[in-house]
Amino acid sequence: MTIGKRQTFLAGVPHGGPGSVRGFSLSFHSVVRIRAAIDRLVPYDGGPGFEEFARRFGARGIAMLAGNEYPTSPFPEVLEAIAGAAAGINRYPDADTVRLREALAGTLGISAECIWTGAGSSENLTSAARALGGPGTSFVYPWPSFGMYPINTVYADAESIQVPLDPDLRTDLEALYRAIRDDTTLVIVCNPNNPTGSYVSRAEAIDFIDRVPASTMVIVDEAYGEFVAAEEESSLIPLAVQRPNVVVARTFSKIYGLAGLRVGYMVGQAPTLRSLRKAQSPFVVGSLGEVAAVTALRFPERVRERFELNRQGVDDLEGALSDRGIRYVPTQANFIWLRLGPGTPGIVQELLERGTLIRQGTEEWTRVSIGTESENRRFIEDLDLVLSQRRS
Ligand SMILES: Cc1ncc(COP(=O)(O)O)c(C=O)c1O
Repeated sequence: MTIGKRQTFLAGVPHGGPGSVRGFSLSFHSVVRIRAAIDRLVPYDGGPGFEEFARRFGARGIAMLAGNEYPTSPFPEVLEAIAGAAAGINRYPDADTVRLREALAGTLGISAECIWTGAGSSENLTSAARALGGPGTSFVYPWPSFGMYPINTVYADAESIQVPLDPDLRTDLEALYRAIRDDTTLVIVCNPNNPTGSYVSRAEAIDFIDRVPASTMVIVDEAYGEFVAAEEESSLIPLAVQRPNVVVARTFSKIYGLAGLRVGYMVGQAPTLRSLRKAQSPFVVGSLGEVAAVTALRFPERVRERFELNRQGVDDLEGALSDRGIRYVPTQANFIWLRLGPGTPGIVQELLERGTLIRQGTEEWTRVSIGTESENRRFIEDLDLVLSQRRS
């Protein structure tokens, strides 16, 4: 039992030091030596699980708009394929995910050698960070951006250099470039950027990458790439297969609706990926995840439908926010960064108490994911209610 408690403590303590140990003896730390940087780490906040959250609200239902997932179930063929493959899970999965890499190679028109898969793209990003970090290195990335970037710098024992967004809350590529130092082994461009949904054009990104020193790796995180409407060809995948210091990270968690299965991938030159992959544990993509992703790739027309539906949701929500005079950043993704002002954390909490879960952001800004039509409507109704209660 004691061991269980200790494990809970280890997983949950955000700022713990020997002096702030809740209900545990100080000798704990003198016996088990946790790296100080890990001990101080504020873990990634994954929010409540869907089932758990839904159970709390019963008949009223919930609107789960905090995780930027696709709001409806995967394609029926994907569900059938998972069911069909379930009996084989006594075996380890294919460590090289050959079928998935070949299917992706066909879809993307590149060689399977230029693809590396992971347990969600966040796991690819973490493994890549481990491969690129170490004492005396630094990672440069925009901020605010995806919450795993600072955590990965800690895992990787690299120094974190955060570059503020520009006044329009877009990634400031010029400032990002100026922040690169001799010891910078990794620079990240998140495009569209999470949590702002802002976007830099392909031409702007290429212009930036052309100036980055060859000894610095550039990761272009395109987790939301399939939602981009601003230009027809937005991905930097074609560039990544040409340059040894550029990789693109993508995921099946968003438009494909497979967040629960944890499948992502990186695209780059084969020798680069072989090196990065050395920092990854084996078998991270499970066999059901692989089969689901392979099947999902067979339905590009449904991906297009989802893209259109998402844009409809964006138009509806951006319209509703404009009608209410609420400032937001026009989005190229499946979420919107909006300004609710100084009371934001309290408003987000009151929405949560009504079963409408959005992402806690800063003191004045927050993020809402695009949901189904009814979830989007519900968010606006609940927001109206919470704001009017606060006014009265
Ligand atoms: C910018 C960005 N990159 C990567 C990810 C990782 O997604 P996953 O690990 O589910 O592929 C996310 C998830 O929210 C994200 O927002």
